[in-house]
Amino acid sequence: MASGGFQARKVSEHVWWVGAVDWALRDFHGYSTQRGSSYNAYLVMGDYPVLIDTVKAQFRDEMLARIASVVDPADIKVIVSHHAEMDHSGALPQTIDVIKPDKVYASQLGIKNLHAQLHDRHEITAVKDAEVLKLGGLSFTFLETRMLHWPDSMISYLHEDELVFSQDGFGMHLATPRLFADENDPAVMLYEGRRYYANILLPYSALVLKLLERIKSLGISIKTIAPDHGPVWRKDLDTLLGWYAKWATQKPEKRAVIAFDTMWQSTSLMARAIGDAMAGEGVGVSVLPLQGSSRADVMTELLCAGALLIGSPTINNGMFPTIADVLTYARGLKPKNLIGAAFGSYGWSGEACAQIEEYFRQTGVEPAVPSLRLKFVPDETGLSQCREFGKAVAAKLQGKVAA
Ligand code: FEO
Repeated sequence: MASGGFQARKVSEHVWWVGAVDWALRDFHGYSTQRGSSYNAYLVMGDYPVLIDTVKAQFRDEMLARIASVVDPADIKVIVSHHAEMDHSGALPQTIDVIKPDKVYASQLGIKNLHAQLHDRHEITAVKDAEVLKLGGLSFTFLETRMLHWPDSMISYLHEDELVFSQDGFGMHLATPRLFADENDPAVMLYEGRRYYANILLPYSALVLKLLERIKSLGISIKTIAPDHGPVWRKDLDTLLGWYAKWATQKPEKRAVIAFDTMWQSTSLMARAIGDAMAGEGVGVSVLPLQGSSRADVMTELLCAGALLIGSPTINNGMFPTIADVLTYARGLKPKNLIGAAFGSYGWSGEACAQIEEYFRQTGVEPAVPSLRLKFVPDETGLSQCREFGKAVAAKLQGKVAA
């Protein structure tokens, strides 16, 4: 098969990157991905080639071309599917048709999910948790990572290269021509890693901490972490592991997120006064107008913040639609250790704040202060109330962070 110019990239002694860079991706199931993404498949060259994961369906030919720059895809004997979400398994059915592998491996739960995608195209063999398999003469240890972030997820360790195929873990949505994390801007690595954690892994933080402990208890040497999205880590692994330990702990910092929408700028005026007052108290404040900020932006800023303030006008007896969107999204991601406060301008009845308070009750966000509702346009007195409101939330936050 011709490579079409797409080349594999060497990762370690036996491993080649044969994935695809998705420069155009701007939405990943509701998470805005302004820097695109990549789907990292890997070729392991032992006595025979092994393919680790595949790519999104539309990138199958690019993956096969990269494989063909190293080896004839038909020589691949084994495919390992660590995870049955379609950004990694979408190209699997047609890849099986082309390669005709002897074996396809997945976790027990992966088999169930893949059967619904492969439709009896190929038998799949289960690997058990902690099972060690020799594939192409190389040793792989498989670890189930259920609910990180799907029931079927697993990772594997290639002993000879001291390399972890970490699947979605330690990934980020970032399209870049630079394969290794240390070749990229460290600030971008931190921001996109954090954004990915907040929008994908956050609800499973307790499991992340257990996995980090488990990896430590194995006493294995890890030189490389090769995720299925974004750059490969061959340096600074302690930094990466440290980020995950910190994010998973969700220890609240003296930071607040103020997410708001506005109908006639009154709730916007309130948000600005509240934010300014909180900043004056030494709080790191992110003020996010939802007409320009996405739900993923809110979750990114909220990671390890201590306070969530929601500002909504009332429209048709309810909160603004963008506010409902963000709160619905955040409910699923289950951020922890937050105090909350609601505010907003209203004209007639002003139900939005009560609805936001109810959301806080349902999701375990601790109310910091009573909601602040102002009728129509805030005057000087109203803006003073906003400042006092902001200072009161800041004081509560200070107490929470110090506790
Ligand atoms: Fe990158 Fe859960 O798929």
